[in-house]
Amino acid sequence: MPIMNGMQLLKNINKTFPEIPFVLMTGHGTVKTAVEAMKLGAKDYILKPLRLDEIVAKIERLLQMRSLIKENEYLLDKLQEKYDFTNMIGKTDKIRNLFNLVKDVAGTNTTILIQGDSGTGKELIANALHYNSQRAKRSFIKINCGVLAENLLESELFGHVRGAFTGAIRDKVGRFELANGGSLFLDEIGDISLNMQLKLLRVLQEGEFERVGGTETIKVDVRIISATNKNLEKAMKEGSFRQDLYYRLNVIPIYVPPLRERREDIKFLIQHFVDKFGKIYGKLIKNIDPQAMKILESYDYPGNIRELENLIERIIVLNKNNEISITDLPDSILNGSDSFSSEDLNFDEGLQNLVEKFERRAIQKALKMNNNNKVKTAKMLAINRSTFMSKLKKYSIN
Ligand SMILES: Nc1ncnc2c1ncn2[C@@H]1O[C@H](COP(=O)(O)OP(=O)(O)OP(=O)(O)O)[C@@H](O)[C@H]1O
Ligand SMILES: [Mg+2]
Repeated sequence: MPIMNGMQLLKNINKTFPEIPFVLMTGHGTVKTAVEAMKLGAKDYILKPLRLDEIVAKIERLLQMRSLIKENEYLLDKLQEKYDFTNMIGKTDKIRNLFNLVKDVAGTNTTILIQGDSGTGKELIANALHYNSQRAKRSFIKINCGVLAENLLESELFGHVRGAFTGAIRDKVGRFELANGGSLFLDEIGDISLNMQLKLLRVLQEGEFERVGGTETIKVDVRIISATNKNLEKAMKEGSFRQDLYYRLNVIPIYVPPLRERREDIKFLIQHFVDKFGKIYGKLIKNIDPQAMKILESYDYPGNIRELENLIERIIVLNKNNEISITDLPDSILNGSDSFSSEDLNFDEGLQNLVEKFERRAIQKALKMNNNNKVKTAKMLAINRSTFMSKLKKYSIN
């Protein structure tokens, strides 16, 4: 080779085109040069004399590897995009503050405990924490602690060695090991037994553990993010959750407020899910009838965002005319909720809307109390029958 030798070429290519896999062909037949080249970043080497089939096989293997790497990068990009903050909807102060906290702590290595009612977005936040951290390119391993029996949970978390118990026919790597270098999401942490709590405490304190039935101590570097919809403070007072573990897990507490504490976000979430499911099911929704929107906005969503998301998905799937109107809403929403709370008093809506919203709900509740008997309901509300019927019509109550 003129100007430079193979090793120099390798160094230069590595610098300028690091994504190009380099295969060194060495004429001297010395494995030493080959090893040196691999250390410098060559992906493979070929010894002279050159055999064409060998070089073809090696190139094929490298191309395969490259497409796997590209695919991996692509998938990771998609994941990072999915858990980008732009895809997390919420404009109320409560949720903006929460997102800011998540942004601030994502990059740190601290242990985080996410608490909140079911369906509020705890897992979404756990994902955002991982995919916006320095560990984003390493694994994010999840485990739902609530669904596994104690012994299964133990072997899932820590792995086991062959023969540790009946059915352990081979060694198994646990989730802690799989998450090494990355993050581990312990979902429903409030559901684990006191015995498992003690075992977890040790890993959190010492960063080490043994596989079930094993003797070798394994050290890992894992960031722990846990979540629960249980009130752990209360569990602690009752003695069903260890205090020391609680403080280990709860270095940074994140509380996700239920939807009823951020009702202003409902309309943005509705729009978000209408767009999302519109794309998925190939349905373009051109218009949401303002009255339907009002009803959707005033519903209580005890199942929080998950319930809202499922509701919109169902509406979109069944939708036929590119428009969401009252008739597209399921009865459960139309019949509304029973409870009145000060949270419902959003004065931006104006008195007229507020009064109508309450009137609608009062009528629904009265109807329910009278088993849908209209005569009795009108009597209870002390209005005459025709006024009552016109109100039913006005509020689309059947
Ligand atoms: N702020 C948000 N913006 C958009 N989508 C959200 C938001 N919060 C939650 N979601 C969506 O709502 C659904 C429920 O969220 P998630 O699974 O994170 O809730 P969770 O608190 O873990 O619920 P559970 O307690 O039932 O496990 C998911 O599909 C999630 O993507
Ligand atoms: Mg969850």
